[in-house]
Amino acid sequence: MSNKEEKPEDQNQSSWKEFFYNPRTGEFIGRTASSWALIILFYLVFYGFLAGMFSLTMWVMLQTLDDYTPKYRDRVSNPGLVIRPKYMDIVFNRTDPLNYRKYVQHLESFLQQYNDTEQEKNELCVAGKYFEQDEEPVKKACQFKRNFLRQCSGLSDTTFGYAEGKPCVLVKMNRIIGLKPKGGPYISCNQKTEGTLQILYFPSEGKFDKMYFPYYGKKAHPNYVQPLVAVKLLLGKENYDEEISIECKIEGTDLKNNDERDKFLGRVVFRVKVTE
Ligand SMILES: *[C@@H]1O[C@H](CO)[C@@H](O)[C@H](O)[C@H]1NC(C)=O
Ligand SMILES: *[C@@H]1O[C@H](CO)[C@@H](O)[C@H](O)[C@H]1NC(C)=O
Repeated sequence: MSNKEEKPEDQNQSSWKEFFYNPRTGEFIGRTASSWALIILFYLVFYGFLAGMFSLTMWVMLQTLDDYTPKYRDRVSNPGLVIRPKYMDIVFNRTDPLNYRKYVQHLESFLQQYNDTEQEKNELCVAGKYFEQDEEPVKKACQFKRNFLRQCSGLSDTTFGYAEGKPCVLVKMNRIIGLKPKGGPYISCNQKTEGTLQILYFPSEGKFDKMYFPYYGKKAHPNYVQPLVAVKLLLGKENYDEEISIECKIEGTDLKNNDERDKFLGRVVFRVKVTE
C-alpha cells in the first residue's frame, strides 16, 4: 500500500529534475541549448533595434532644436513680478546704518549691471517701440542706466532712502522670451493695510518702455538688462513702528495681475516696517 503511494512522488521529483535538465534530450528548462541560444540572440537583436530606433529619433529631434530660441513655449506667457532687495519683509531702524546695510548692499550689487558706463556700450533705442531683431544672430540690448532711477539710483543718495526712512524698492518683471506686452505697461503700488501712502515712481509713472521687449534669451541676447521701476515709499513719522503691506501690480497692459492661484503673476506683495 505505502509503496504504491510513494511512487507518484518519486515520479514527481524526477520530472522536476528533468525539467531543469533532461539528460535524454539534453534539454535545459524545457529547451535545448541551441533553442536557448536562438532566443537570446532574438532578444539581443530586438532590444538592440529598439535602442537604435530610440537613439535615431532622439538625434533627429535634437537636430531640429535651436540653441538660441526655445521650440515650444506657452501660448500666453505671463511674467511674475519680483522686488529688490530680495526680501518679503523690509524691516529696519533708519538711524542705524548697520541695521539696513544688507538692503543697501543688495541694491548696490544688483545695480552694478546697470552701471552708466557699462550701459553706454548698449544701444540707444527708440522709446515706445518694440526693439525687434529677429534676423540678427546676436541681438543688441537697449540702455537702461541706473541714473534713470533718479533718487532711487543710489548715486545721489547712497542709502537709497533708507537713512531718511523713505526706502526705495525696485520692481522688475521676470524675463520671458518673446514677450511683447501690449499697451503701455506700468507699475502701480498700493498700501494693502489701512491708510494711503505717498509713493514716487522712477522712471516717471512707473513705466516699462516697449524698447526693452522682446527678449531673445540668454545666449542670443547676451547684454540684455531688464527694465526696472523704482518705488520710493514716502513714509512719515506717523508710519514708524507700523507694519505696512504694499502690493505692486503691472497695469496698462494685457498681462495677468489677479490670478487666483498664482499670487506672483503680474503682482508682488511685500511688507515694510521702519523704526528709529
Ligand atoms: C561703475 O561705474 C563707475 C563709474 O561711474 C566705475 O568707477 C565703476 O568701476 C563701475 N563698476 C563696474 C562694476 O563696472
Ligand atoms: C534704533 O537705533 C538707534 C541707534 O542705534 C537706537 O538708539 C534705537 O533705540 C533703535 N530703535 C529701535 C526701535 O530699536
